[in-house]
Amino acid sequence: MSGDEIETAQAIEQQIARDILGPLIDAPTVQLLLPQAGQIPQAVWELTRKVLEQNPQAREDVSLLTKLLAEESQMVGGDNMANLNANDAAEPSDFSLKPAERLPLTDRCHHYTGKHEVPWDIQKYFSQRYSIFSFYDGGVHMTDDAWFGVTPEPVANQIAYELSEHHYDPKKTILIDAFGGAGGNTIAFALSERWNRIISIERDAATLACAQHNAELYGVDPGAVTWVLGDSFDYLGQLVNSPERLHPDLRVDLQSTMVFASPPWGGPGYTTDEIFDLSTMQPYSLSQLHEAYKKMDHLLFLPRTSDLRQIAKLAPEGEKLEVIQYCIEGASKAMGAYIPGELSSASGE
Ligand SMILES: C[S@@+](CC[C@H](N)C(=O)[O-])C[C@H]1O[C@@H](n2cnc3c(N)ncnc32)[C@H](O)[C@@H]1O
Repeated sequence: MSGDEIETAQAIEQQIARDILGPLIDAPTVQLLLPQAGQIPQAVWELTRKVLEQNPQAREDVSLLTKLLAEESQMVGGDNMANLNANDAAEPSDFSLKPAERLPLTDRCHHYTGKHEVPWDIQKYFSQRYSIFSFYDGGVHMTDDAWFGVTPEPVANQIAYELSEHHYDPKKTILIDAFGGAGGNTIAFALSERWNRIISIERDAATLACAQHNAELYGVDPGAVTWVLGDSFDYLGQLVNSPERLHPDLRVDLQSTMVFASPPWGGPGYTTDEIFDLSTMQPYSLSQLHEAYKKMDHLLFLPRTSDLRQIAKLAPEGEKLEVIQYCIEGASKAMGAYIPGELSSASGE
């Protein structure tokens, strides 16, 4: 691997550790381990979190942490840690990003069955669980964070339907879902059977495990979706500029590809502002998203009060854009903006 590739891989591994450990990432012992994140499997970070939660002293004392981890890993399966490390080393990859294996559900993936189990800030969403996933009782799993961002099933189906009907372009056969989340949109896209290939990218391993699990529950053909654990900006940057760095299964023809992006909507004012300023959207602004996707047609899934003037500026010269409000029971939930890509505009489509 080149220096850049190693750096990217390290950044992803460290992000996985951050996502699993949350605030415990700042523990001095974790900071010592972090530079070796590439050699530490996800399962070991999960054990580390458990050990640190139960033994605050191990946050300072690295030999205590090592000892407790060894004991814990024996309890969950003999010489588990040694095996996991050996497996990782046995599968070296020359590619910066590759398709993800089927990831195991972790203790961050929940299927809540009663309100009493649900953290208070998610209870509102839990009470809407059947409009989020009609098959919820079949065993849908989500991380606690995923509840805030998942696209409700009727909206996800409507988007999938539009891309199969009104916005059907036979030249587009591949869809990239840049923010896969717990699978809301990816599942609907796959069930529409409109795409030859779907590439769904999610940077949080537990959330991706939920998406894979939920897709299975919904009967999605295992071959229909290529899941990627990683940063979609890295992926798209390499797809456009240096596809040879990607695993061959992730190299797709840009002219045949469309991007769907449902980014997080954090930042000031999304719920309160009459007009939401997309230049302050966190962690990714409108221009950052557009810059990453601009070569390809893209559908941006944005807050319902998004500033239309900011979106209009993305229209190719002399063209108008189509913007859609997605409603449930008469109330708008989100806005969709269809932006033609430079490659489509240049070819006169
Ligand atoms: C709004 S949610 C997407 C929800 C998804 N459409 C669904 O219906 O389940 C955004 C997701 O993007 C993930 N994410 C954030 N930044 C990312 C990035 N740079 N690359 C890939 N995934 C990212 C987050 O972890 C989160 O799960």
